[in-house]
Amino acid sequence: MDWVEEFYSRTGAWWGGAEAVVSDDDRERAGRIRAHTGDGPRKVLELGSGYGGAAVATALAGHDVTAVELGARADHTPRLAGENGVRVTLVRGDFYTTDPGGPFDVVAYWDGFGVGADDDQRRLLTRIAGWLTPGGVALIDVYNPFDWAAQHGVREHRDARPGDGYPHELDRLFTFDQRACVATDTWWETARPDRRYSQRLRCYTPADLALLLTGTGLTLHGTHHDDDDSWSYLAVMGAAAP
Ligand SMILES: C[S@@+](CC[C@H](N)C(=O)[O-])C[C@H]1O[C@@H](n2cnc3c(N)ncnc32)[C@H](O)[C@@H]1O
Repeated sequence: MDWVEEFYSRTGAWWGGAEAVVSDDDRERAGRIRAHTGDGPRKVLELGSGYGGAAVATALAGHDVTAVELGARADHTPRLAGENGVRVTLVRGDFYTTDPGGPFDVVAYWDGFGVGADDDQRRLLTRIAGWLTPGGVALIDVYNPFDWAAQHGVREHRDARPGDGYPHELDRLFTFDQRACVATDTWWETARPDRRYSQRLRCYTPADLALLLTGTGLTLHGTHHDDDDSWSYLAVMGAAAP
């Protein structure tokens, strides 16, 4: 997991000028919380909150939000919260070791679950089970192996668009290890092909996710798949029966 801080901080420095905003996707994420927990303000813990757009959208929807983020993307969160007139409790740290307080009605992890090995996911899922109130819900985006496998070998070139907040010309390569079920997403500045940055993401089918949950204190309530966005699906989980 040693690549995590460098990868997200570096790519955040490339894209933050354009993407450190409260986007429609962030508002849609806040909407998922309402869809899965009903009306009423909730106490929400967001893991790996990146720039903080979803955390701010969730606070704008009336919830009490704590956001945990390791990397430099979090530098944008206080500004985004201030611009939108909401309060987000930002915990700068590693969600494997930090204490975010709690308990929480909702633990959300948008676009990020799957870093490290199965034991690392189990450790995190066990922590999530411990952070939830009785009846609380975990909402976690899980990477879909079928979609990522179909991208194996695909390359992408992105021209610089400084006017849109993308000042760097970039290249990207996707690969997928079918044995380990791990997608590798590698980026580099076109002018510096020798210096590449990769994220490695363990993907799980819903059936494999259900097996992964064994012994963590969580059980899978259901999965939601979006035909327009098939690289991940939303897993909805709650406390397992004792
Ligand atoms: C793919 S990014 C997504 C960010 C945000 N959720 C979004 O959708 O825009 C994953 C984020 O999780 C953060 N992250 C990964 N592992 C973490 C850890 N152990 N503790 C805290 N944050 C972590 C990364 O730094 C990164 O910002």
